[in-house]
Amino acid sequence: MNDERPRLLTGDRPTGRMHIGHWVGSLQNRVRLQYTHDCYFIVADLHTLTTRPEKESLARVPDHIRQMVLDYLAVGIDPELSVIYVQSAVPEVAYLHLILGMLVSVSRLERVPTIKDMAEDAGLETIPFGLVGYPVLQAADILLARANLVPVGRDNVPHVEVTRELARRFNHLYGEVFPEPEPLISDVPVLPGIDGKRKMSKSLDNAILLSDPPEEVERRVMRMYTDPARVRADIPGRVEGNPVFLYHDLFNPDTAEVEDLKERYRQGRVGDVEVKKKLARALNAFLEPFRERRAAFEGRAGLVDEILAEGNRRMREVAAETMALVREAMGLNYFGVGG
Ligand code: TRP
Repeated sequence: MNDERPRLLTGDRPTGRMHIGHWVGSLQNRVRLQYTHDCYFIVADLHTLTTRPEKESLARVPDHIRQMVLDYLAVGIDPELSVIYVQSAVPEVAYLHLILGMLVSVSRLERVPTIKDMAEDAGLETIPFGLVGYPVLQAADILLARANLVPVGRDNVPHVEVTRELARRFNHLYGEVFPEPEPLISDVPVLPGIDGKRKMSKSLDNAILLSDPPEEVERRVMRMYTDPARVRADIPGRVEGNPVFLYHDLFNPDTAEVEDLKERYRQGRVGDVEVKKKLARALNAFLEPFRERRAAFEGRAGLVDEILAEGNRRMREVAAETMALVREAMGLNYFGVGG
């Protein structure tokens, strides 16, 4: 869509089905922003290669992409309003990545704190060239769309900072091509997992997935960590920092019920089972519309692939425009190659 609304780009590496922490931290925001912004949602499959280039990992990517996109659609990201596309289907990103790589020092990139963390999490002993370039590739995603706004979690803010530096550097050297994108930082604290200890994550097996069936949601809620000091229902319990009540606050719209449960919990007049049963019911009511929409999209064979094909096509149009501007600004079009 060619309109006057500010352009927004954000996205995720395809890791498969998404969980309620993703909803709280980012998806909710995206659904809202698509009515005021010209939205681009990238499925950043090339970024997964920075730590997982093995063929077996790559073989799982298409399924992860489809599952993740089904979750986008299930929560209400509307492909009529927003462009959903796959990074590797827009090869211009590699070209822009190469050019941007000339405009930032290795020592600057080595100061980006996430790189070492990602290497460690992936069990890598050495850091691949491509992983040092992770923020440059992300900058290429953002600048290729000439985005104004980039909603991200705190951990990704250093990447947007690199992007802003690259935009300034390019514009300074070659002329004004890129808007300097603003990060929109999610101030929602990271949702703890059902174990109450760490952030929710599918790989830690402490997540409630957006697509979990009702029985699974109930099973997971009944297993949730609560106040460990409370070994019997008649012992006063702690509400603050208790994930069961944190989830109640986020997902149970019946505030009177939540307040009553908290009150009785503090006084030792309610069992964990009742608190959890009511949470499971609230969560299932919350997730039901997502399940229905997911089922509708899943039921129409090939629909997700069609949506992606259309998104890829629309992003490639923007990418071609941007690369024409880039080559023109740089004077890199001497023989007209690449249009
Ligand atoms: N780095 C993001 C993550 O942590 C994924 C990503 C890739 C992204 N390109 C982006 C986010 C562009 C925002 C904008 O998974």
